[in-house]
Amino acid sequence: MAKPQFQAPKGTRDLLPPDTRRWRAVVEVFADTAERAGYGQVISPMFEDVGVFLRLGESTEVVTKEMFAFEDKDPKSPQQLVLRPELTASICRAYAQHRPVTPWKVWYEGPQFRYEKPQAGRYRQFTQVGVELLGADDPAADVEVIALAWRFYESLGLQQVSLLLNSLGDELCRPVYLEALRSFLVSRIDDLSEASQATLDRNPLRVLDSKREQDQAVIAAAPVMVDFLTDETAAHFAAVRSGLDSLGIAYEISPRLVRGLDYYARTTFEFASTALDSAQNAVGGGGRYDRLVEDLGGPATPGVGFALGIDRILMACDAEGVFAPPPSPVDVFIVDMIDGTHATIVTDELRRAGIGAERSFGGRSVKAQMKVADRSGARFAVIIGDDEVAADAVTLRDLTGGEQELVARSALATNLVRKLQETPRS
Ligand code: HAM
Repeated sequence: MAKPQFQAPKGTRDLLPPDTRRWRAVVEVFADTAERAGYGQVISPMFEDVGVFLRLGESTEVVTKEMFAFEDKDPKSPQQLVLRPELTASICRAYAQHRPVTPWKVWYEGPQFRYEKPQAGRYRQFTQVGVELLGADDPAADVEVIALAWRFYESLGLQQVSLLLNSLGDELCRPVYLEALRSFLVSRIDDLSEASQATLDRNPLRVLDSKREQDQAVIAAAPVMVDFLTDETAAHFAAVRSGLDSLGIAYEISPRLVRGLDYYARTTFEFASTALDSAQNAVGGGGRYDRLVEDLGGPATPGVGFALGIDRILMACDAEGVFAPPPSPVDVFIVDMIDGTHATIVTDELRRAGIGAERSFGGRSVKAQMKVADRSGARFAVIIGDDEVAADAVTLRDLTGGEQELVARSALATNLVRKLQETPRS
């Protein structure tokens, strides 16, 4: 087959049926988990003023290199707009704009855009689900959001997800730590890779994120934030840990977990799938961002939340062999052997009765229609030919067992509803 002229842009992909049915099912499990915990959905714009995202970190690649930016066309508002690279900042912008009552507990789902170097599990357009809990400083809020993500992975059937936990301190202890880290790294600068030497200038914390072999010995010996926490921050961290202990949620303290975004303070965490290749094994991450709302012009409001990557979660489900695609919701396939007009009427009637019904088009042979019926995943075929019309009936064929019977036309919908209820899909 000749290659078509146009392909999906680099770093993006088309999701096609039936994969999209599984995709939607994951989002529905998440939506249920969040809604049942009192989180309401926010749908915010896919593009925002660039200023909304500057707090992600002026030294982070997300801001410096990965924004999809464009000018507003209105000459009167020379605004730089960007496709959102994440949703936490958008949610805080929305909070500052609408000032809802706190605690404000919200969830979201949707595509994010980052101009990354694409590879398996790393895309330029990817989908996140997440929650944000604004207006609660309580460590129990940190525990709640972590537990929500954890239980969500569990309900998908994932068992090889581990939780990495850290505290990044607050505005009192972080500067002290950063200074200690900087002077340590400066003292070992000759042992660092060139790239990390450059990073050190901009943001010493990010050096800890380096995966380069050459940097590992220095990173292993570097001072860690958790040794610099103030009493208050340490108490918060201890409360988060004991909350997780009380829920039986296992975690690993990861003192060098810095996360890719700069707005975090205190609790930070990441979920890694050990079933995935280590380069792209983060299936989710989050933490506290107590200053972000204020930085975006709102009242001082603490916040905590997470975002999980659906693309990678489905890769992890494949790797673990869990979360099979839901069965086709088509219950019945109408095989019209006459001219298609009966199929039009019967599909409509059955759909209105709440039955999944499909048909074929273009006057295809009975054999061809039966083949499509088998492929559709339908459990029954309704066959209509001249004999059936003459008897004011239809032939109802069980596509699993092969038995068939004549059913009065007027009794078809009730008969099918009963049959489908008697043997629900597994
Ligand atoms: P993040 O760590 O940048 O955090 O992204 C969260 C998750 O999104 C990652 O763990 C990964 O599963 C997925 N992800 C990120 N980039 C890509 C990509 N290029 N391709 C595929 N999947 C990707 C945030 O976005 C924060 N807003 C999380 C948060 C919420 N913090 C507090 N509240």
